[in-house]
Formats: sequence, C-alpha cells, structure tokens
Amino acid sequence: MSAASERTMSMSSQRGVFSSKTGFILAASGSAVGLGNIWGFPTNAAENGGGAFVLMYFVLAFCLAYPALMAELIIGRHTKANMVHALQIISPGRTSKIFGTLTGGYGILVASLILSFYSIVAGWMLAYLLEPLTTLAGLDDLSDWLTGNSIARNLLFTGLFLVLTCSVIAAGVEHGIEKWSCRLMPALLLMLAGLIVYVLMQPGAITGLKLYLIPDFSQLGDPKLIISALGQAFFSLSLGVGTMLIYGSYLRPEENLPAMGAIVTLVDSSVAFLAGLLVLPALFVAQQQGLNIYSESGSLMAGPDLIFQTLPALFAGMGKVGTLIALVFFALMSIAALTSSISMLEVPVSFTIENHATRRRSATWLAGIAIFAVSAVIVVNFTALFGLVVTLTTEYSQPLLGLLLCVFATWVWHRDMILEEIRSGHPEVEYSLFWKIWPGYAKYCCPLLIALVLSQSLSG
Ligand code: PHE
Repeated sequence: MSAASERTMSMSSQRGVFSSKTGFILAASGSAVGLGNIWGFPTNAAENGGGAFVLMYFVLAFCLAYPALMAELIIGRHTKANMVHALQIISPGRTSKIFGTLTGGYGILVASLILSFYSIVAGWMLAYLLEPLTTLAGLDDLSDWLTGNSIARNLLFTGLFLVLTCSVIAAGVEHGIEKWSCRLMPALLLMLAGLIVYVLMQPGAITGLKLYLIPDFSQLGDPKLIISALGQAFFSLSLGVGTMLIYGSYLRPEENLPAMGAIVTLVDSSVAFLAGLLVLPALFVAQQQGLNIYSESGSLMAGPDLIFQTLPALFAGMGKVGTLIALVFFALMSIAALTSSISMLEVPVSFTIENHATRRRSATWLAGIAIFAVSAVIVVNFTALFGLVVTLTTEYSQPLLGLLLCVFATWVWHRDMILEEIRSGHPEVEYSLFWKIWPGYAKYCCPLLIALVLSQSLSG
C-alpha cells in the first residue's frame, strides 16, 4: 500500500466512513426522506395543481436539485472535511477563502436552525405516537395532555427527540448514522407501502387520488407553483446546508458519485410521490366519514391541522384497526424525522470535532444542548418565531446556499480537480452524459436558474 493511501485510510478511519455503498445510499436517502416528503410534498401538491406540481417537482429535482447535490457530494468527498474546511480547501486565494469560511459558517448555522424547528415538529410526532397506547391503556388524561398543544409537552418531546438524535450521532458514522439508517429506512418503506395499500382500499380514496394525479396544467406556468416546487426540492434533498457535503466526505473513494447522487434523488422523489398516494386519498376517506377537510379559506387542509386533527380523527373513527394505523403512521413520521435530523446534527458536530479537536461524544451533546436552547425559545414564542425561522432557513437560505455551493464547485475550485474527483474510482464516467453536461451546466445554468427563482420569491 502506498504512503498516500495509508494516510487516507488512517484519516478516514479517524473521521469515520460509510462501510458500504448501501450504507451511504440509505443514510443519504434517510437524510433526504423526511417530514418534507411525507407531509410537505403531498400538501404542496394539493395546493398547487396536483399532478402539475408533481410534474414540475420531478423536473426541478432532476434538473436543478440533482446537479446541486452533486456539487456537494463532489466537494465533500474530495476534501474529506466539514463545510467550513471544505470550502477553505477548494478556495485558491485569500479572498475566496474568507468567502468560503463565511459561506460554510452560514451553512452550519442554517442546518442548526432547521434542526431547532424540525425537532419541535418531530416531538409532536412522538407525542402522537404514544397517544394510541395511552388511550388503549385507558389513561385518558395523559392522552389529552399528549395531544394538547402545551408548552410543557412541546419542550419535553422536543428534548426527547433531540436526545434520540444525539444518541445516534454520538455513536459515530458507521455505528450510529449508517447502522440506524440501515435499520430504519427499510422499516419506513414497509410502513409506507402498508399504509398506502390500506388507505387506497377505503371508500373515498379514489377522489383524492384523482386530485393528486390529474394535472391542472393551467397552473404549470404559475410562479408560485415553480417557487414552491423548487423550495420543496431543495428542502427535500437536504441541500445547501452541508448535510450532503458531510455525508459525501464519509464516502469511499471508489464509489461512483454521479450514480450514487442519482439513486438518492430517485429514492427521495419516489418516496415523496408515494407519500402523496397516502396523504391525499386519506383526506378524502376522512371526508367520506363526514370530517371537514377544507380550511376556513376554502383550500384543502394542509398545515398541522391535517396531520394532528383530520388524520387522527380519521384513525379514531376506524376503531381498533385505526389505533394500529395511527401507531404505524406516527411511527413512520417519527422515523422519517429521525433519519433526517441526524444528518442535520452531523453538520455542527463534524465542524466542532474537526475545528476544536473535541471528542465526538462531547461535541454531540454540546451541539444538542445549544440546539435545544434555540428550540425552547421558539416553543415559548411560537407564533412570532416558528414561521419566521422556517421561511428564513428553508425558503431563502437553502436555495441561496445551494447556489453558492454550485459557484464554489465550478467557479472557485479548479476545473481539473473537480473532473479528477468525479473520475476517481470510476474512470468510465468520462464517456457518460454526466461528464459532458454537468460541469458547464452547474457552472452557468444552475446558479442562474436558482437566482431567478430566488429573486421571484423575494419579490413575491
Ligand atoms: N430533507 C429533509 C426532509 O425532507 C429535511 C432536511 C433539510 C434534512 C435540510 C437535512 C437538511 O424532511
């Protein structure tokens, strides 16, 4: 073995590395598949022309989000570093290094802020997961408390969810992230499939299915639809904030990067699509049972009311089977949230480990406590802060950071180095379409298109 590869081996064993291709695919798909897919995607689709949104989403996911995902994976695997260091490494000059440091820091901040609101919502899922059990046990007061929106419940369950997240991350890349993604992702897919089959067999389901799948093409050119679809794609693929960059940095050099990225994009989009086959038909099954599925403004129920009122009411009306369905549904939501939240936490944790020579365990709990403190502030000032943090991080910061990462990969970094990294472990890639198109596309089209959509959403 050459000295260079020995050095890489010892570095990677220190930093942690995904032990297999499947491990990486499940971990990265786990990051991508989250509340954004199962909750965000179907309701976005219902609000924005059903099938037209689905179509636009798939186009944007593959034409804009996938190239941006590749930029992150390539930078990550080449630099084997956290977001700040990675951008410093690929920046040749002093000014670009400063800019890299700032962009990396911004990414870490946004990842942590996303986790701070995400863990509140995930905490609700955990509480609703327990509720069918306490109801079965006849603990009605406890059930009411679990489903009541009190500050105490929110703080407790946000904390609980963060403890779960920290426990996985503290165990490291292979024994934490990879091990748990490999356990949880297949369970998630099975639960999702089971729920879809059950719901589609209920009366009323077909109406929801039609609304979801039949495109209202008149909405296709609507800027609101395009902005929503792009935001959804960036959030869903966990882009811009360094999660994919850091997962890429744990990837072995022999893996075929463009193929890995494509599989993750495909899994993510497919699960989002499947979630639509569950949530929208379920809404119309609820309507069949006499429940109201429209909000006061006349639009289809989409926000927390859908997940925490309409669906639980639907399950409650189904008797004993309903209890089981409720359990599976909220377990599905909790698992989806957990495999995503671990990837968010890995961003500040990897930075703290690498920048301050801290042990993984201390870095994890430190970051966890800091994020919990922010979550607590949001919980206490929910009306003022929650929506604001969601909008600032996911609607503006994520696309902006995605754009900056494309600029770093293609304008700041030396072109030969990117090409070498893409080729690494997989020289045949030179004959692929990806090789011919991606470098130019990510350099000119991606930043321009993202900027266009971003400016639209800023002005609108
Ligand atoms: N992709 C996750 C979801 O769909 C959310 C996420 C955003 C995860 C940013 C990591 C980073 O729910």
